[in-house]
Amino acid sequence: MTSSLYERLGGTEGITKIASDLVDIHIANPRIGPRYAGSDVAAVKNGAATFFITGTGGPSVYKGKDMLGTHKGMNIDNDEFIAVLDDALVALEKNNIGQREKEEVLYVLYSMKSEIVRV
Ligand code: HEM
Repeated sequence: MTSSLYERLGGTEGITKIASDLVDIHIANPRIGPRYAGSDVAAVKNGAATFFITGTGGPSVYKGKDMLGTHKGMNIDNDEFIAVLDDALVALEKNNIGQREKEEVLYVLYSMKSEIVRV
């Protein structure tokens, strides 16, 4: 049997590192960085890490809202959504994640579009 995406991304330690890099890359990205201007960076990193740990088959550590509740009223557009996916790919490559795993992560992220864009 294929191991879970959680395991293949390096478990809690690996995903925590990827999520931390991802949030740093978002903040440095002029297209979306301003969205996080008032954010508690450590809290956003923790939210991103726990969301992904739980969503990829790891322990149930995510305590935040669902994606619709999190992003409702932010008026996020399509270009911003793609910017987040671009950043995710950079973070995955920075952490030497394999091709198959990159495809799975990108697909999982893409599949949430209708809960995030213009909600
Ligand atoms: C599939 C794509 C996305 C996923 C999986 C995702 C996931 C998340 C998660 C898990 C949180 C933290 C929630 C919590 O801890 O309660 C969050 C917060 C947030 N997201 Fe997203 N997000 C996505 C796309 C976007 C996009 C496109 C934008 C706009 C640039 C965006 C902007 C934000 C902001 C501004 C916050 C709040 C940060 C704060 O609490 O200060 N997200 N997102």
